[in-house]
Amino acid sequence: MPMILSVEDLRQLARRRIPRAIFDYADGGAYDEHTLRRNAADLDSMTFRQRVMVDVSNVSLATSLLGAPVSMPLAIAPTGLAGLFHADGEILGARAAAACGIPFCLSTMSICSIEDVRAATSQPFWFQQYLMKDRGFNQELIDRAAAAQCSALMLTLDLQVLADRRRDPRNGLTIPPRLTLRNAFDVATKPSWALKVLFGKRRTFGNLAGHIGGSSGIRTLAEWTAAQFDATVNWRDVEWVRSRWPGKLILKGVLDAEDARSGVAAGADAIVVSNHGGRQLDGAPSTISVLQEIATAIDGRCEVLFDGGIRSGQDIAKALALGARGALIGKSFLYALSALGEAGVTKAIEIMRNELRVTLALTGTSSVGAVGPHILRS
Ligand code: GLV
Repeated sequence: MPMILSVEDLRQLARRRIPRAIFDYADGGAYDEHTLRRNAADLDSMTFRQRVMVDVSNVSLATSLLGAPVSMPLAIAPTGLAGLFHADGEILGARAAAACGIPFCLSTMSICSIEDVRAATSQPFWFQQYLMKDRGFNQELIDRAAAAQCSALMLTLDLQVLADRRRDPRNGLTIPPRLTLRNAFDVATKPSWALKVLFGKRRTFGNLAGHIGGSSGIRTLAEWTAAQFDATVNWRDVEWVRSRWPGKLILKGVLDAEDARSGVAAGADAIVVSNHGGRQLDGAPSTISVLQEIATAIDGRCEVLFDGGIRSGQDIAKALALGARGALIGKSFLYALSALGEAGVTKAIEIMRNELRVTLALTGTSSVGAVGPHILRS
């Protein structure tokens, strides 16, 4: 077993443990991946102000997100297909998050269904959806999330059309999947993944199976989903969701101050500053470069969450410094899950927790509430 000291160690282990097509689905971004790289590069280029001779014997990371207490300002982002990265991936992710005291957000495009995750966990989780042409199915999902006592609904705003992720067709990850000699060989060299995932109990889109035209096959459901992206969506649709969902509403995919203000007006309890992990508009700015401007525009009227390139506790500290209340991990979660299942996810969260604690201490900060732009060198 290699030494695991960082999220990058988990990423390297994931690369060896799961088929390339699955790994690249998480690891990649849209088109030439400029924005994907920018997310990480812009975080890396920031520097902290080191401060000394401050009592930091008690650094507190506890805070709240959407009114609920959390042990640290972190949540697991919704990621499609997590159950293909590791058997029962969504259940394992939700359990690890609950045990660590942070929220887990289940994707509509998950393998384990809302009901599967609800039955396997004791803590409420968040549920993500995007607006589909079939609004009746949106309504059905809202009702199912409410019945499962999900504590927040996260509406993804930036999937009105789908950008090309070029690694996917190159790897044969298409609808239907293209079986090449290379990916057959690749799967054959990952027998433990294949045994658990390919021959496991859950192998299709759990939330869609049986609810869409009576079909359960992953190919039919993937085709149905591909036809569901709705390019007409606008703020009135967000208001429609707002009027139907009684709980906390999170809007994910805001990258512009004007959209942030519209999100507040539409009734958001939180927005996620996000460029979909560099998977949608290639050429968009990194999320960290627009965070402060958006937080200023929101001016405390709703919570500001952040994702895009978070690989460490230092990255979380940088996002907090520029106005985020918490950060979300999508890719980092999938690397950890693929590498070591539930224990991997726990490990990633604990690594980030320690990094965040030490970073706050060395910047002379005793609590996440005291983090501000002053911990950064301008
Ligand atoms: C779906 O939201 C994806 O980014 O693949």
